[in-house]
Amino acid sequence: MGALIDCPIEGMALVQLPPIPTLETRRLILRPLEERDASAIQQLFPQWQIVRWLTASVPWPYPSDGATRNMGETLEQLRRGEKYFWAITLKGSDELRGRIDLWPFDGQTRDMRGFWLDPKLQGLGLMTEAANAVTAYAFEELKWPFLYLTNAAANRASARVKEKQGAVEIAREPFSYVSGDGSRQIWLLTHEAWLTRKAADE
Ligand SMILES: CC(C)(COP(=O)(O)OP(=O)(O)OC[C@H]1O[C@@H](n2cnc3c(N)ncnc32)[C@H](O)[C@@H]1OP(=O)(O)O)[C@@H](O)C(=O)NCCC(=O)NCCS
Repeated sequence: MGALIDCPIEGMALVQLPPIPTLETRRLILRPLEERDASAIQQLFPQWQIVRWLTASVPWPYPSDGATRNMGETLEQLRRGEKYFWAITLKGSDELRGRIDLWPFDGQTRDMRGFWLDPKLQGLGLMTEAANAVTAYAFEELKWPFLYLTNAAANRASARVKEKQGAVEIAREPFSYVSGDGSRQIWLLTHEAWLTRKAADE
């Protein structure tokens, strides 16, 4: 599983993640994010439909060098084995059309996955596909027992992706989004619930 690194919580150890794999679904290739993706992100990401229910720490209006600046920090975290960042691409094209991120539980923050998709591709079941591939990797390869997941309560599409995976809402709390103050749903998806849901879908 990799080397142990500093952990803020007594009795727990954060593990350096294994190298990021490329994941494949029926319609998508999820490949490691790369520096060259910054221009596609700068084109796609600063859209209200994408940012409105993201954390208020996302700068808005989005600066013209926002993607490049964020990329530096992101690739550093990837290199240090702290988090995974995948570029979502359609099979047959290597162009980034969205992003999905995964990171381990730090003992405190009940949030372990993030995603966004080009609005032109939304509503086609693509994020469900991407989230399933990343979740399978977390449970089956990394052997994590659970994922904590979050979204703005108003963000029904994001909530729906979680519901469809078998996640259970366990809390709501105030949270600040780019669109203002709101309420955040916190979900728990256990490996067991995921397996049960998968079996029912097959
Ligand atoms: C959230 C997001 C990634 C979903 O991607 P997507 O590829 O469109 O999702 P899918 O097509 O796989 O599934 C969406 C589900 O939500 C449902 N949905 C979409 N909009 C909805 C709405 N307004 N109300 C209720 N359900 C809705 C869809 O019908 C689908 O459910 P179904 O399969 O039962 O019909 C996409 O909307 C997005 O990028 N949003 C902006 C960024 C964001 O909010 N990220 C999440 C932060 S927590």
